[in-house]
Amino acid sequence: MTNLEQIDKTRIPQHVAIIMDGNGRWAQQRGKERCCGHQAGAETVNKITETAAYLGVRYLTLYAFSTENWNRPEFEVQALMQLFIDSLKEETLMKNNLRFRVIGDKERLPLNVRESINRCEADTSSNTGMTLVLALSYSSKWELTNAMRLLAEQIQEGKIRPCDINEENISQQLDTAFMPDPDLLIRTGGELRLSNYLLWQCSYTELYFCDTFWPDFSANDFYDAIIDYQHRERRYGKTREQIQ
Ligand code: FPP
Repeated sequence: MTNLEQIDKTRIPQHVAIIMDGNGRWAQQRGKERCCGHQAGAETVNKITETAAYLGVRYLTLYAFSTENWNRPEFEVQALMQLFIDSLKEETLMKNNLRFRVIGDKERLPLNVRESINRCEADTSSNTGMTLVLALSYSSKWELTNAMRLLAEQIQEGKIRPCDINEENISQQLDTAFMPDPDLLIRTGGELRLSNYLLWQCSYTELYFCDTFWPDFSANDFYDAIIDYQHRERRYGKTREQIQ
């Protein structure tokens, strides 16, 4: 039985988040510049987007650039920004009926990147297929700080009281308010950490780590992650007896 056949099509995770790590090391292993790894990684983005949509995943959220990544060498940051512009193809998104969204501190992005994002978000807003979400200039600490500021403003304006703050209205102030929390988070590249990614939203997310560098991550590797997820028991703090 192939690993695609092992997947239970009735239990596909609704939301998969991915930390696409290992581009730099993939390139360095081949004696190439780090940016070649990012270019190869962009091809993997297309392949895995197609695979996830085919399986019926509703939201795919890819960590493409963290707020900390602004501290990388200037030429690498510029190469990544150009790669985002080159990769954001409305025709491909439309052809595949994908909705496109970006989460993160968009104000920090160069104007041409913001224009590409705005165009793709607007043009695909009525599509009905999977939502492809890019986390760009994103970090959880930035997002939560922003949410706290917004809630403080609402208190200052007398719209809510401090005792009205709850998990729901905090979630509503996050960039991710339009989608459910991830069911499965995959990190490629062998590191075992969350790197400031979706910390609030991953409270009950199943975590899957693999050593494969992102440019080498294949559809089969994605199926393996889904199969692993389907063997997990999600108890949300309850006992096994309660959920059975
Ligand atoms: C982490 O690997 C990856 C990034 C910081 C960039 C992610 C970008 C892409 C996958 C390419 C383009 C994306 C889109 C959406 C078109 P790393 O550079 O930290 O790798 P390393 O840990 O091996 O150094």
